[in-house]
Amino acid sequence: MAGYRSAIEAASGGSVLIVTKDDLRESATAYAQGGVAAVLGVDDSPQEHRDDTVAAGGGMCDAESVETVVSEGPARVHELLEWGGNFDREGDALHLTREGGHSRHRVAHAHGDGTGQEFVTTLVRAVQRTPEVTLWEHAFAVDLVIQDGRCAGAIVIRNGRSMVIGAGMTILCTGGAGQIYRETTNPSVATGDGHAMALRAGVAIADMEFVQFHPTTLYVAGAARHLITEATRGEGARLVDEKGDRFVFRYHADGEMAPRDVVSRAIIQHLAMTEGVCAFLDLRHMGEGVKERFPGIHRACSLYNLDITVDRIPVHPSAHYMIGGCITDLDGRTSLPGLLAAGEASASGVHGANRLASNSLLEGLVFGRRAGVLAREEAGAPPDALEIVAPDRPLPPTVLNVADMKNSIKSLMWRYVGVLRTGGGLEVALEQLRTWQAYVHQVNFGSAKALEMQNMLAVAVSVVRGALWRCESRGTHYRTDFPERDDAAFLARGVQGEREGIVERPLGRS
Ligand code: SIN
Repeated sequence: MAGYRSAIEAASGGSVLIVTKDDLRESATAYAQGGVAAVLGVDDSPQEHRDDTVAAGGGMCDAESVETVVSEGPARVHELLEWGGNFDREGDALHLTREGGHSRHRVAHAHGDGTGQEFVTTLVRAVQRTPEVTLWEHAFAVDLVIQDGRCAGAIVIRNGRSMVIGAGMTILCTGGAGQIYRETTNPSVATGDGHAMALRAGVAIADMEFVQFHPTTLYVAGAARHLITEATRGEGARLVDEKGDRFVFRYHADGEMAPRDVVSRAIIQHLAMTEGVCAFLDLRHMGEGVKERFPGIHRACSLYNLDITVDRIPVHPSAHYMIGGCITDLDGRTSLPGLLAAGEASASGVHGANRLASNSLLEGLVFGRRAGVLAREEAGAPPDALEIVAPDRPLPPTVLNVADMKNSIKSLMWRYVGVLRTGGGLEVALEQLRTWQAYVHQVNFGSAKALEMQNMLAVAVSVVRGALWRCESRGTHYRTDFPERDDAAFLARGVQGEREGIVERPLGRS
């Protein structure tokens, strides 16, 4: 989302190359169900959207970023409509749904729960209509190139060949890192490649401890963890345990519509208490119409012989959204001149410690466009002669099983760095990750899958380090050994990358 939106904007200033490691449609955006949150209804106001965003953010939202997203958001959504986006309507008006933490119906969607597909289709079409944009699919960006203290492009592997791409401006829109967890809603491409590249280049990144877990993903043996959108609950679905008890009300007065960190924790704690395996979403009272309203969920459940009008849907929390990333200003600037970031690879400050549902597509559109504008205006000429210098000693060959290593990272992270964390568990995870890093980072694998695994390790370490540093509970980050929010000590960001260790930085733009 952010990448295509920025490319469309930047292209009016020169030529743009998009490097994407899979095919052009594959990203977390394509799997978005709920939709895009924006002030689109007559009964809504920017003030209310701002208040809901800030309330979800646990005291950590950046006021200017929130203001920018909320005020520019509606225009970005209307732009998609002008580009042919086919959103669901109610008469002439857009049909707006509601998700947890929103005080209004303000989430626009498409094809019921197929919002992401429609957004990708619309943006890809717009990119393909833009002659200045070249698109490389199945090309893997390995690392940023830095020349005279400025990002000068990236090393890319394409068709088995490594090359240096010189760029007047580089924009990281590499998405999230949900694949570092065993349970995740994220597609297999979400391996934190941009986060890892930024870390290796010494770019300031922050908020890595804030990994958002989605409370309801399909939990059936053998099934991919298909997201069951929060919009189901917004439209009346009930979250119950094995016995049919709507237990979330015991954890929060808003029950199913409480913020998603609260609901995720309630499920994990309730399952531990009742020795349950999963919770259930009950849509049975909503009638046959749910099949039409949520066709993707209906289809996914049918594959496992679940009829959503007859059966309850087994669900469990899983990793969903990476709030942390490159610290960016309102135009996507990172701490490295020549490098911009937008979308999940960035930490714009909009989400604070906990993202309000469906604000991420909006953030991708708004800050993607702003980064594109800046690139258009400030990109210099690309450096002319860049070449890859081979290492002075050959790197050792390896017999490492990449799939096994990835699974080990995922299991470790789920066990020790999931919805509930403790200092002891985080220390165990860090020590194990460091042990793996000691031999995995020494090897030059050359294949995209293995490079992803190295990136996953780097990102996992930075999540654990952030979580160890933050000795309190706030938003998505919950430490059972520090269950309270501690504003006196932790109303700040933990910054990694620029220097050894974690540097504490006050909130705001200093
Ligand atoms: C959902 O549809 O429940 C997910 C929306 C989001 O994560 O913003």
